[in-house]
Amino acid sequence: MEVITVANNKGGVGKTMQCYQLACHLAHKGNKVLVIDLDSQANLSSTFGVQIQRTLIPEWLIGDIEAEEVIVQVDNGEEFHENISLIPASRHLANLSKLMILSEAEIRKSAGRKERLLKIRLDKVAANFDYVVIDTPPMLGDELIMSLVASNRILIPTQAQDYSIDGLEELMDTFEIIKETENPKLKFNIIPSMVNTRRKIEKQRLSELSQSFDITPPIRNLVQMQESISTKRPVFMMGKKSKGQDDYKKLWKSLNL
Ligand SMILES: Nc1ncnc2c1ncn2[C@@H]1O[C@H](COP(=O)(O)OP(=O)(O)O)[C@@H](O)[C@H]1O
Ligand SMILES: [Mg+2]
Repeated sequence: MEVITVANNKGGVGKTMQCYQLACHLAHKGNKVLVIDLDSQANLSSTFGVQIQRTLIPEWLIGDIEAEEVIVQVDNGEEFHENISLIPASRHLANLSKLMILSEAEIRKSAGRKERLLKIRLDKVAANFDYVVIDTPPMLGDELIMSLVASNRILIPTQAQDYSIDGLEELMDTFEIIKETENPKLKFNIIPSMVNTRRKIEKQRLSELSQSFDITPPIRNLVQMQESISTKRPVFMMGKKSKGQDDYKKLWKSLNL
């Protein structure tokens, strides 16, 4: 089982888009995919057509309930949806850090440190899934740290204004700390996101970024990407001449996914 987290402490950079396209792509290829929405805004859950009153993620993490009780089967009418299981979020998840403080003694007994909670839960379901795809909120909080500890790799969608080491500094620092302390095998990929290739300044920044980091092929800023979300259809269903489909094909190939 490979665990992939999509992360950036900035909002609106295309994290949820990335998770949606990746999960659908992997499921379409025949993989069993567990999608975990760790953002209390629950955008990924609603893109999969799932809206719930109150998420049970905190109870699952703490160990009060089993994975089967938080997992929802996704069914939007397409065959590949059968391969997708979703752990949905709700607004309630915004209280995760507070809830974990309340259960501190319990957590210390079962996991040692709260950072390891998600990894411990995922190890238990490793036999049931080929991939886990995790969407995270736009901040360096418990959700992101737990995901980094539990992951094999982290995909970082990045927009032009942040194409500098400075823009990514906080996240990269956190990545390094997790790698040194909890997860030495953690890898990362930087994905230029919502790129406008006609703008000279963006091209220039892209080439600067590629001097500091190994970056993947870019995903362009395209109206059809927004349509993909609003119509709940992944880009691979959008016709052979779709630019979005082209971009994502190149991206998955470069990532061996
Ligand atoms: N490649 C793209 N082209 C055009 N619009 C995009 C693209 N990627 C994401 N968007 C749109 O930009 C907005 C923010 O993307 P989202 O994935 O929700 O970001 P995040 O999860 O990082 O906050 C959404 O409205 C989304 O539909
Ligand atoms: Mg999001």
